Amino acid sequence: MVRPSPPIRRARRLPGARVLSGLVIAGLLAGCLPGQSDPARSVALPPKPAGIPAHASSREGTRNPPNPMPAASSRPSPPTNPRAESIPLPGIENARRIGPNLWSGGEPSGDPAFAALAAQGVRVVVSVDGARPDVEAARRHGLRYVHVPIGYDGVPRGAVESLAGLARLGEGGVFVHCHHGRHRGPTAAAIVAMAAGAWDPATANAWQREAGTSPEYEGLYRAVREFSMPSPKAVRAAARRLVPVQPPKGLVAAMVTADHQAEVLDALQRRGWKPLDGRPDETAVPSARLLREQFTESIRLGHGPGDDRFREAMRRFEAGLAVMEDALRAGESAKASDAWKALRNDCRACHQAWRDRR
Ligand code: HEC
Repeated sequence: MVRPSPPIRRARRLPGARVLSGLVIAGLLAGCLPGQSDPARSVALPPKPAGIPAHASSREGTRNPPNPMPAASSRPSPPTNPRAESIPLPGIENARRIGPNLWSGGEPSGDPAFAALAAQGVRVVVSVDGARPDVEAARRHGLRYVHVPIGYDGVPRGAVESLAGLARLGEGGVFVHCHHGRHRGPTAAAIVAMAAGAWDPATANAWQREAGTSPEYEGLYRAVREFSMPSPKAVRAAARRLVPVQPPKGLVAAMVTADHQAEVLDALQRRGWKPLDGRPDETAVPSARLLREQFTESIRLGHGPGDDRFREAMRRFEAGLAVMEDALRAGESAKASDAWKALRNDCRACHQAWRDRR
């Protein structure tokens, strides 16, 4: 492959993306079926024309590869749409097989789950959940963990680079999971498939719907719709940074996100919960849900003081957010506004009790 000179390389990202697509397809998606492991052969596969440029718009898509598995006569015929195959795996919710070497699902719990993944041909387990991955259990079954935690509000650029960087590991099958395997995990798996050049954004969005990703997580759909391939340099750097466990971000980071979301809700509430000018992506129900999800996640991960009364206060707040969300869904603006004002007071009350008097 002729290396374009630097200025051209900067101006034209496509060639780089193609090189990478070839790598990724070889490493992730075009690999062998379980039991036929032959990494050398899979890496030697030529970059498949089936890999469409990651940023190709769906309008150009008269070619027909919504299929992340390249054709090979010796294989069972692959799905021709993003309807990935559901596979029952013990201790893993919503497990689906997207391609010969790519799976998505919920958090594997216990040895049987990891054993089942290993038997499928998985070698690398990727968690995009905030919880600490069970690295030890994975290791007992010869699996390596990579931790790329993301929220429900989108996929930060660094995480896109890390997900693209997975391909460089060249270690065989990859299983991408979040907590329940419906929202963040399928989204991250879609990004892996797009970074492989195997799916265009429209196909990847269709897969998210298929996997049950809620349309209310607009940021997750947007991350897929607006995916662009990171530069090869960024991908290489990200691949070097991949770690099995990211240190927990904790309550402070959760509160910073909550604070942003609360400001969005303030603005929406002032407009009678109508969409904000120039911010079509921040509408009432999804914004309320994001904030609630932030608290649900903090409770689950045990953020903050390990004190029953604090946990209780967090749960009450979460329940209040659910009431507001229901009111918004039902179009009961006044009720939602009252609920939000009460919640705003609860932010302050909790801070007085737990933050400001330490
Ligand atoms: C149940 C208790 C509780 C509730 C409810 C709560 N917070 Fe907090 N918040 C805390 C605690 C405790 C801290 C201090 C965290 C620390 O410093 O370790 C904090 C810290 C913060 C911070 C400072 C973060 C930083 O940079 O140090 C912000 C901003 C914040 N909260 C916003 C909010 C908003 C907005 C709401 C309501 C939508 C809210 N919080 C609801 C307990 C709560």
